[in-house]
Amino acid sequence: MATWSAPGKVFLFGEHAVVYGKPGIAMAIKPRVIVTVRESRYHQKPNSPYIAECFRLMDVKGSVYVRSQLPSSSGLGSSAAVTVATLCAINDEFELKKTKTEIADLAHQVEMSAQNGRASATDTYVSTFGGMVLVRGSEKRRLLPPQNFSLVIGNTLVSHSTSEMVGKVAELRKNSPDIAEPILDSIAAITMHAMHNLDNQKEFGNLMNMNHALLDALGVGHPMLSKLVLAARSAGAYGAKTTGAGGGGSMYAICSKSSRNRVAGAIEGCDARAITTTIDTDGARKE
Ligand code: PMV
Repeated sequence: MATWSAPGKVFLFGEHAVVYGKPGIAMAIKPRVIVTVRESRYHQKPNSPYIAECFRLMDVKGSVYVRSQLPSSSGLGSSAAVTVATLCAINDEFELKKTKTEIADLAHQVEMSAQNGRASATDTYVSTFGGMVLVRGSEKRRLLPPQNFSLVIGNTLVSHSTSEMVGKVAELRKNSPDIAEPILDSIAAITMHAMHNLDNQKEFGNLMNMNHALLDALGVGHPMLSKLVLAARSAGAYGAKTTGAGGGGSMYAICSKSSRNRVAGAIEGCDARAITTTIDTDGARKE
């Protein structure tokens, strides 16, 4: 029997722009998914298409048990975390000796086949290695110096479809490139400024607010996201923005330790779920 866990993530900056080869910053967060795999002759058919694909790809049979601290379909990378933890547990239980880099690549393949070819490698990479990651396009990823931010995530409880939102931006880009391109370029510039202001939370917060406004301009906003972002800022956050695809899902705020309870309370006061968390630097680990 082998038990492994893997963390969820937030997109700090640059979502949507990364689809067009521009930079983005993502960060692993503390809540994780814990998966136990046991070798068995009788293969228990998993309910999750991600887990089923992990067993198929690794060509083994076994039973699996999953516990999750992450809400699903909320833009916090729960499917990537399930996939990475399952692959690691299979790798350990069946002594397949795959490296973490191989696990990250396999996890991306699993997400691609479970999501009909629409998955960036960001979630699976961040979940495997933990920490803060600068992504550029689909190929380049590099770890940034980890920051001990106080994060409050607000889950709108409004379900969203990443591929629908990506499609919406693609349509704007096709119909009005003169509007869409400068917005995507500005998001890229904001991401680069953020990368150079990792230790300046006030400036980081200002840049978050700008990025949020540009996501709204791209048409991937939602009234609940706007409500939570404004509530978090009024409660004293340095900055607040949508994280991930938008159209529902989650936002996050960065705050001082002294204001985080107030920010979480303001989010809960809008009938949303608040998660107070910080960076995870472990990535996938054996439990
Ligand atoms: O909502 P999430 O966490 O799946 O993030 C989507 C981020 C996008 O940039 C919109 C798409 C992508 O694959 O990077």
